[in-house]
Amino acid sequence: MANVCVIGAGYVGLTTGACFADLGNQVVCLDIDQARIDRLNQGELPIYEPGLEELVQRGVGAGRLTFSTDYAASVPSAEFIFIAVNTPQSAIGHADMTQVEGAAATLSRYLGNGPIIINKSTMPIGSVDRVADIIRHHTPKPFAVVSNPEFLREGSAVHDFLHPDRVVLGSTDGAAVRRVAGLYAPLNASIQITDPRTAEMIKYAANAFLATKISFINEIARICDRLGADVVEVARGMGQDPRIGSSMLAAGLGWGGSCFPKDVRALEYMASLHGAHPQLLRAVIEINRDQRIHAVRLVREAVGDLRGATIGLLGLSFKPNTDDMRDAPSLEIVDLLENEGAHVQAFDPAASTRAKALLPRVGLCSDPYAVGRNADAIILVTEWNEFKQIDLRRLGAGMKRRVLIDGRNLYDSAAARAAGFDYHAIGRPEAARTVVPVGS
Ligand SMILES: NC(=O)c1ccc[n+]([C@@H]2O[C@H](COP(=O)([O-])OP(=O)(O)OC[C@H]3O[C@@H](n4cnc5c(N)ncnc54)[C@H](O)[C@@H]3O)[C@@H](O)[C@H]2O)c1
Repeated sequence: MANVCVIGAGYVGLTTGACFADLGNQVVCLDIDQARIDRLNQGELPIYEPGLEELVQRGVGAGRLTFSTDYAASVPSAEFIFIAVNTPQSAIGHADMTQVEGAAATLSRYLGNGPIIINKSTMPIGSVDRVADIIRHHTPKPFAVVSNPEFLREGSAVHDFLHPDRVVLGSTDGAAVRRVAGLYAPLNASIQITDPRTAEMIKYAANAFLATKISFINEIARICDRLGADVVEVARGMGQDPRIGSSMLAAGLGWGGSCFPKDVRALEYMASLHGAHPQLLRAVIEINRDQRIHAVRLVREAVGDLRGATIGLLGLSFKPNTDDMRDAPSLEIVDLLENEGAHVQAFDPAASTRAKALLPRVGLCSDPYAVGRNADAIILVTEWNEFKQIDLRRLGAGMKRRVLIDGRNLYDSAAARAAGFDYHAIGRPEAARTVVPVGS
């Protein structure tokens, strides 16, 4: 049993805290957001993350998981202090370290007996030294800093945390890194121990590679559109090659969310700043932006002038099973549509509350079928499970014009056409679907 303090009770911090408490440790999750901590103390989760609520309840019930805004009460007894605050994108593209610097400066005032500070947030290369410098500036007390980037995915955060592909630890302090490895021991995970800069780079390189895979298949999709091939089948054929792998090969509206956009931009920025020429990363970013524009172009081609048109969106969150709207493709798509004079109405199973503040002019519907009411077109933006078997006839029943832009290649084109839709997918031109039966 260890005393753990997790600073930042967001998607990563809350999951980290709840999981370590479940493994038998004494954990306090610390956040400066009083409202967030109040909700947690009332048994309410501030985020939507499948399976997390149960874990939090179990930890709280067992007395191993608490929530606080009080550094003075939470930090001194902690042997392990995780920094899990956000590192959002700054205006010019680098990772904004304001929250990390704030957390490091504050925790340094309350250090106990030789704790280990663990950089769990995604931080630029060199951040182990930067965090150590900040703490050293405020206190002569001993401590160690270890990089431990997080690879969990929203929507399956608890599972990913408890069953990691690998745990990466970066430090020059052998004793500290062994202690952190001990904290992860119950997970029986592969633990990679390396130097701090390499650990930090692993996280950026991994996210950049995954984003590259998605942008690659989106570029192939655009070529498929021109040449009459079906990108879904192309991806299936490619993905069965173990050197390629089938994940992250779904053509669609591109990547979004709280990590890929800011991390790819931050890596591109760091590379440029230090004299490298990150041309692949730049292309990856550009292809991604083009996918949103492409979706709106498909609507315009099918509907015509968008002034006064009503467009329905199915899904708003950046991917299914989360309420996270950070850098969601829907934000850009709504902006483009509204800029052309369209009215947008939308339904999302979990993100409506967050969307309300971000998309004030969008009409939020309480069920998916309402999205079709008087609409000139519908765009499937997020592939939530509940949209997979939606009754397409009912969806189209109240529409002015039955145009369906399937931004995630979710539907069968024949079924959509049978339901009366003028149906458009991503990288699946009609010509590609004329399958010649084997032997004919
Ligand atoms: N969300 C993901 O899927 C994911 C996955 C892997 C890595 N990461 C990385 O983890 C980090 C955290 O991401 P997140 O999505 O959990 O962020 P988040 O915005 O959900 O949570 C951050 C929390 O930190 C709190 N905070 C800010 N400053 C603080 C301070 N000085 N003291 C205490 N609390 C403070 C905020 O109030 C907020 O609740 C980021 O660097 C991100 O890139 C995120």
